[in-house]
Amino acid sequence: MSPVMKKRIVVLPGDGIGPEVTYWARTALEAIGKGFNHPFLFEQSLIGHAAIEATGSPLPEETLDNCKAADAILLGAVGHPKYDLDPSAKVRPEQGLLKLRKSLNLFANLRPIKIYDALASASSLKREILEGTDILFYRELTGGIYFGNRGTHPEGNHAYDTLSYTREEIIRIATMAFQAAQGRRGILHSVDKANVLDSSRLWRATVIEVSKQFPDVQLVHMFVDNAAMQLIRDPKQFDVVLTGNMFGDILTDEASQISGSLGMLPSASLSGRIGMYEPVHGSAPDIAGKNMANPMATMLSAAMMLRHSFEMEEESLLIEESIAGVLEEGLRTRDIANEKTPIENICTTDEIGTQILEKIESRMFQSVMI
Ligand code: IPM
Ligand code: MG
Repeated sequence: MSPVMKKRIVVLPGDGIGPEVTYWARTALEAIGKGFNHPFLFEQSLIGHAAIEATGSPLPEETLDNCKAADAILLGAVGHPKYDLDPSAKVRPEQGLLKLRKSLNLFANLRPIKIYDALASASSLKREILEGTDILFYRELTGGIYFGNRGTHPEGNHAYDTLSYTREEIIRIATMAFQAAQGRRGILHSVDKANVLDSSRLWRATVIEVSKQFPDVQLVHMFVDNAAMQLIRDPKQFDVVLTGNMFGDILTDEASQISGSLGMLPSASLSGRIGMYEPVHGSAPDIAGKNMANPMATMLSAAMMLRHSFEMEEESLLIEESIAGVLEEGLRTRDIANEKTPIENICTTDEIGTQILEKIESRMFQSVMI
């Protein structure tokens, strides 16, 4: 990696805990930039409720233009409770995120589920069921029911959403997922509801077609209801899981409990040149601004940015190992603490962020000394 290549990173803090968690991810990236002599240029833009308040739009033109010109995007979260129960709201924070994903054609959403030894007891599942779990979800992100025709009939008694997929949409995400499985344990579970849905029958037939190019990958089809059950019954059976937009949304929230908390789950949304990186969790308005949020999912998303957008594997590992190190020392945010966690080990957002940053910096210093 040439040290003179400038990388433009657009930060979209968004709503709720978004600003708190992106602050620490950006700080980690800044430290890495300094330590490894990578000129990262940061810009910040509005999205979600914050953008609606300032401009009336959840994705202002200026934000979209900034993102289109970026090398990578770091997003916090979008969402505000005031819209959730209001069916008449025409403008919603989530529309900003969905439009951004669609405009940048970010069709492949990677969500890795990893077990941290130190956190096995934070999960509601038994340690022996969890240990050794390593799953990589490929969630289709720009199609399916999220983007189909929808509407509410004027009298308000009938509403509908349409789930549709094209062969092309399935082929491109399936190809990426099979390629990933080749570099891992060589198993791919394709999750659908082909016993009921036409779109799932097309999904299944297309995945079988793509699988012919990957004879070294074992393809397993699973209905989504069974997959939801198998994920907590025996998560170790999964390697790569390929699924559509809505099923992927639901299953990855479920799978987050395997790693202890939604607060630990990063994601990468990829297609061509630009990658977007965001935690799987939402804006958590109940704890926003209270210095209680877990910044680790966003910091791990920054690590995914270094790996997938910039091919900076060493730098990416440095963030991941620093987070693992802080967890091994027993430090916890509230979401991953349990009744056995000593009270003095329960950290605020800023405390755990500072500890992780110190680890990153001391490890960088060590590697410079060697
Ligand atoms: C996610 C989120 C989003 C989604 C919301 C905020 C629109 O839940 O990234 O998983 O449903 O895709
Ligand atoms: Mg979700």
